[in-house]
Amino acid sequence: MKGFRTRNGFTTVVDGMNLEVADDEFVSLVGPSGCGESTVLNMLSGLDRDFTGTAEIRTTSKGLPFSYVSQEPRLLPWKTVKQNVEFSLKASGVPRAEWGDRVMPLLTRVGLSGFENHHPHQISGGMQQRTALARAFVLHAPVLLMDEPFSGLDEFTARSLRQLLLELRQQETSTAFVFVTHTVFEAAVLSDRVALMSNRPSTVHRIIDVDVPLPRSYDDPRLFDVSRELTHEILASMKDTQGLSVDEAVAR
Ligand SMILES: Nc1ncnc2c1ncn2[C@@H]1O[C@H](COP(=O)(O)OP(=O)(O)O)[C@@H](O)[C@H]1O
Ligand SMILES: [Mg+2]
Repeated sequence: MKGFRTRNGFTTVVDGMNLEVADDEFVSLVGPSGCGESTVLNMLSGLDRDFTGTAEIRTTSKGLPFSYVSQEPRLLPWKTVKQNVEFSLKASGVPRAEWGDRVMPLLTRVGLSGFENHHPHQISGGMQQRTALARAFVLHAPVLLMDEPFSGLDEFTARSLRQLLLELRQQETSTAFVFVTHTVFEAAVLSDRVALMSNRPSTVHRIIDVDVPLPRSYDDPRLFDVSRELTHEILASMKDTQGLSVDEAVAR
């Protein structure tokens, strides 16, 4: 259980949540805004320890147990693209001798070859987020926590980054992903399982499997079916559906 003390007393945000993610699994958390998804990631990362129950990353890996990608790229503005990625390795204590093998191949893979010496203000928001993905993947951490990483991008840029994430994921076969999103189709495209969160005090009220093998195509009708099922569930769990049909809601 996790809550916050506020001026009006104590508000319970997450209660009775039970979710286990396997070593190589991609799980999305989808729920109404403010239901506590970022809070859950903070509990998992250890940033927030003020709760009852357990939130843990079980790993035998000696390095950092997780890396993190947020909505804002949060790059160091005085460092270049390459230096930002290298800084992540430095901060995690990876020996400099290993940097060369890791950084440029990864920057090439995320489409930033030729931009490695640019500073963040010289590249687009999408490229900044590609840099943030590289900075996270370069660590080979056993868990990747991602908090709405593409929600600040326009739809076409977000789409290309989702495609990239699917590709990176196929290469990092022993990484677990916990991915927060409010975009239902994004959850369907990327995930093995989607955990639907209820309103506060929130819990996982349903888990939906996405039974579509990788590599996935955006146009796979099975993903549309999953997306529709997710939307149904979310609308059914909302008190006020504003009289929208599922088709209308999906179109929004
Ligand atoms: N430090 C805090 N103090 C008080 N309330 C907080 C704090 N952080 C988050 N909350 C509240 O907890 C709820 C969940 O927040 P958050 O996890 O950020 O939601 P989201 O699901 O949108 O990521 C929100 O209602 C928010 O107002
Ligand atoms: Mg949040």
